[in-house]
Amino acid sequence: MSNQTVQPHQQASSLWSSRLAFILAAAGSAVGLGNIWKFPYITGENGGGAFVIVYLICIAVIGVPVLIAETMIGRRGGQSPVGTMRSLTESEGVSRGWRAIGWNGVIASFLVLSFYSVIGGWSLVYIGKAAAGAFVGADADAIGAQFGGLLGNPWELLAWHGVFMAIVIFIVAKGIRSGLERAVNLLMPLLFVLLIAMVIYAMNTDSFGRAVSFMFSPDFSKLTTQGVLTALGHAAFTLSIGIGVIMAYGSYLPKRVNIAGTAMTIAVIDTSVALLAGLAIFPLVFSNGLEPGAGPGLIFVTLPLAFGKMGGGIVFGAIFFTLLLVAAVTSAISMLEPVVEWLEEHKGVSRVKGALFGGLAIWFIGLGTVLSFNVWSDVHPLGFIGYFEGKTVFDLLDFLVSNLMMPLGGLAIALFAGWAMKREGLSDDIGLRGGIYTAFMAVLRYLTPAGIVVVFLYNFF
Ligand code: PFF
Repeated sequence: MSNQTVQPHQQASSLWSSRLAFILAAAGSAVGLGNIWKFPYITGENGGGAFVIVYLICIAVIGVPVLIAETMIGRRGGQSPVGTMRSLTESEGVSRGWRAIGWNGVIASFLVLSFYSVIGGWSLVYIGKAAAGAFVGADADAIGAQFGGLLGNPWELLAWHGVFMAIVIFIVAKGIRSGLERAVNLLMPLLFVLLIAMVIYAMNTDSFGRAVSFMFSPDFSKLTTQGVLTALGHAAFTLSIGIGVIMAYGSYLPKRVNIAGTAMTIAVIDTSVALLAGLAIFPLVFSNGLEPGAGPGLIFVTLPLAFGKMGGGIVFGAIFFTLLLVAAVTSAISMLEPVVEWLEEHKGVSRVKGALFGGLAIWFIGLGTVLSFNVWSDVHPLGFIGYFEGKTVFDLLDFLVSNLMMPLGGLAIALFAGWAMKREGLSDDIGLRGGIYTAFMAVLRYLTPAGIVVVFLYNFF
């Protein structure tokens, strides 16, 4: 390979059709189960307000700068994360060690999809349940039992995980414009509208005030150091940063698009969706006497209760879970993308075959997550280490990807863009000038890495 920056994706035919298309696709990647399923349940598990504040700080100080840097790196390299990091280390004349960023991405996106898709399968099941009226008139116990019944059945989980993966493989195989763009254009805005409707419903319960204070009045005595790491990991997870996904999407971004403005827009959309989801869900948790720390089943137990009680709940519920599915699919396709790009570039397989082989392998690895909720629910592979006590295979995978690979990938990206890359053209590339650019670079070079390092030091030493 020459030491010039090669940019195969920067040909007009494979670029996003507009800035809006990129925003929608990147927001489609960012907004997903992380916002609607994970954010509420980890907020509940970590005691509420203090966790939310740390999460918001992590978004601002770590998430947004890394999002900007990763998009910029992706556009400059114009290839899969592995190819991009290879050509940038050559053109910048820096150590080949930085290429680990690309590898970390391909491996992490592979692993994250293996468990994400299992939860995606739950949303498929819940579309059917809602449409069939399974929640009508059901009380908290009955709805809890329905969810428990699903988790207890590995075959059913495996089958729906398979259906979810099949949808993702199909869309990715069709390619960036026809597949990815079309899927997000209409459905993302619709999800937003429906969430607002859910919040309005929740405002009319008697527990809205309690939910707001749970989410926003901080009680730092409830926040552990592991909770702080979870907040940092979730800031990375929810913005899809640190593992090459944004780098892969950035490789299709036209030169004229302003990266900083675009990244800010994406972060604002993503954070609003998470906060709205919390405001929709916690009032229902409190008004039904449920436990905020109930874990991964939280939305699958609270929302059906509301749908079961409200007029038109069958239609409303079915639409809601359909949109949850769409949000999950648009994130999942972004996780498969780096794997497929890598297979295309380095193994010479076609896009269709890459999607199929990659997808099948991911489906298989998903078995570990499927079994974590039933047959292996008492298997704690690292239970002998105090820190990982009680963690199932699913918990460990989530921890590995969300709390280690994504933040550490983010750290490496911040260091690479802030310290290793040459400064020429950077300000234009990012789309910031003058004092704002200087301030941004200071954050990226010092504050972002320091934030990540400090959280890690507190957790592990
Ligand atoms: N950001 C997605 C969500 O919040 O659901 C999850 C995600 C997408 C994680 C892409 C990682 C990733 F590479």
